[in-house]
Amino acid sequence: MSFIRNYFVDVTKRKLQHFAENATFPHFFQPDYKTLKTAFFLKGRWNKDFFKNNAPIVLELGCGKGEFTTGLASRYPDKNFIGIDIKGARMWRGAKTSFEASMTNVAYVRTQIELIEFVFGKQEVSEIWITFPDPFPQKPKSKKRLTSPQFLNRYRQIAKKNTIVHLKTDNTSFFDYTLSTIVEQNLKLLSHTYNLDNNPVDSNAASIYTFYEEKFREKGESIKYLKFRLFPEK
Ligand SMILES: C[S@@+](CC[C@H](N)C(=O)[O-])C[C@H]1O[C@@H](n2cnc3c(N)ncnc32)[C@H](O)[C@@H]1O
Repeated sequence: MSFIRNYFVDVTKRKLQHFAENATFPHFFQPDYKTLKTAFFLKGRWNKDFFKNNAPIVLELGCGKGEFTTGLASRYPDKNFIGIDIKGARMWRGAKTSFEASMTNVAYVRTQIELIEFVFGKQEVSEIWITFPDPFPQKPKSKKRLTSPQFLNRYRQIAKKNTIVHLKTDNTSFFDYTLSTIVEQNLKLLSHTYNLDNNPVDSNAASIYTFYEEKFREKGESIKYLKFRLFPEK
């Protein structure tokens, strides 16, 4: 019994340490709701005031421990990458790794993705990755799916007109739901595969593994991938 209690005490202590360290990172932002709704100082100013360049901004939504954000950033020093999630203790991993590597093209924002239009200005974002999102299989919760029409509309508030959205998932129902949404919304599907190992249509998707991906792979799940244009074709 005391073993279990000690385990939870250790986990809580570690989480608190991670929260405290997140607050010290220069590239970790956790604006509160009121600040976001009034005026977040980097909204519309990420290039000018944070990255200090004009390079494209790529988001990873639901980044968890941020392996994908940090992995892409080390491959593409000529682009900027921002990982977004609500779970700060998880995000600490990516923030710490990128901080220790002195990477200047990475940031993390701890917030609800529902509030994304308060974090970025119009047409500030060039590309979006969604990696192993929670599938929310029950129909009443379908609005919470990160590829639902409601979320796609939020992304359209901040994205450039030619933005591409990438999805990686283990979940076949979620993947099929996204494919139908793409058809219903008259969006252009650029590529898709039900098995990224057999058909590595995107080299980044096929070679950077996330924490959840490793777990799904251990269970023998095949990894699905697709990419599509966020705005409908004229
Ligand atoms: C299954 S995990 C995947 C994490 C990571 N992408 C990976 O592959 O290891 C889903 C992540 O999405 C985050 N998430 C889900 N819905 C969210 C929302 N509405 N706002 C912010 N984060 C969200 C969760 O906190 C969680 O870390």
